[in-house]
Amino acid sequence: MTGKNYILGIDTSCDDTSFALFDVATEHVISNVISSQTEVHAPHGGIVPELASRAHLENISLVFHEALNKADATLFDIKAIAVTNTPGLIGCLLVGTSFARSLAYRLCVPLYAVNHLEGHLFSPFIEKKTEFPFLGLVVSGGHTAFYRVMGLDEITVVGQTVDDAAGEAFDKCAKMLGLGYPGGPVIDRLAKSGNNKAFAYTKVKVKRGEQYLSFSGLKTAAYLHLQNLEENISEKQKLDFCASFQHAVVESICDRLQFLLDQYDYKSFAMSGGVAMNSLLRKRVQEVCAARQVPCVIAAPAYCADNGAMIAHVAHLKKPEDQLMSLETLATKKKTMSA
Ligand code: KG4
Ligand code: ZN
Repeated sequence: MTGKNYILGIDTSCDDTSFALFDVATEHVISNVISSQTEVHAPHGGIVPELASRAHLENISLVFHEALNKADATLFDIKAIAVTNTPGLIGCLLVGTSFARSLAYRLCVPLYAVNHLEGHLFSPFIEKKTEFPFLGLVVSGGHTAFYRVMGLDEITVVGQTVDDAAGEAFDKCAKMLGLGYPGGPVIDRLAKSGNNKAFAYTKVKVKRGEQYLSFSGLKTAAYLHLQNLEENISEKQKLDFCASFQHAVVESICDRLQFLLDQYDYKSFAMSGGVAMNSLLRKRVQEVCAARQVPCVIAAPAYCADNGAMIAHVAHLKKPEDQLMSLETLATKKKTMSA
């Protein structure tokens, strides 16, 4: 036994292989290693599930050992393992969960299954105290939803997209311009030098209610704007196009944020997910919250994209009865092994 008490967090739900070590004693992340598969998927303009699972298989041991090395830790410092078990690409999830199960069994440590969205939702509070109730926004390539969070076991969806996720809209818009994958970071960079009023977008209203978002209309409008342009779009028009589209997406999210903050007495607003890295969105949500005097907590850039730290962090917040492979099961195993 070592004196260290680390939780190993694993996420292989999509196109990033990530392992992290979270120190229970200091409530700090000791290492968080992310191996991105961008180069594998970029030539295809999007994620190819079969290639993603194979890349996880190739990388998983390397990433695990790098997380241990960076933390100057050994196998025996791991006192619990947390792994994303849903939602995600099934082949990718299987690589991570199989690895986690085997390691938990080998080390005789408890195993936690963590929902990937819970990981994102609580990631603004890694290394910060969580105060309930908070309004959470997970905005990524696969999800865009607002949650009322009263506690770890009391999470309600209070608003969401009825079609595409915001990240998906960024990626598709970038694809129309031939900007490559993933499109969000490129649009963010180019938009900084563009005029956000150059291309008009009408505000999207979803009949179902003011808490709902829709990005498919913005995407169609972007397509039509491009059709109306001359065949050779100038560099200046590209910058303006990115700035106008980004502005429309961000304002659409901020309209819902204002509406939802006025519905309930939240202690804070917490934003997470890959799109939470968008510079304009980060600035605008802070302005919206400041106007209502609601504290705004945004996940640190290292914890916005998919990462193992957010998975270990949720396991740290969970109760012992949430363990998938409990210490009791493992104690039985120990007895059988020594018999
Ligand atoms: O959370 P994430 O890594 O994976 C999912 O769980 O989906 O999010 C990836 C998404 C991609 O769609 C990517 O284009 C978007 O996050 N993204 C951004 C930015 N950085 C990443 N979107 C807008 N601005 C950014 N700076
Ligand atoms: Zn994610």
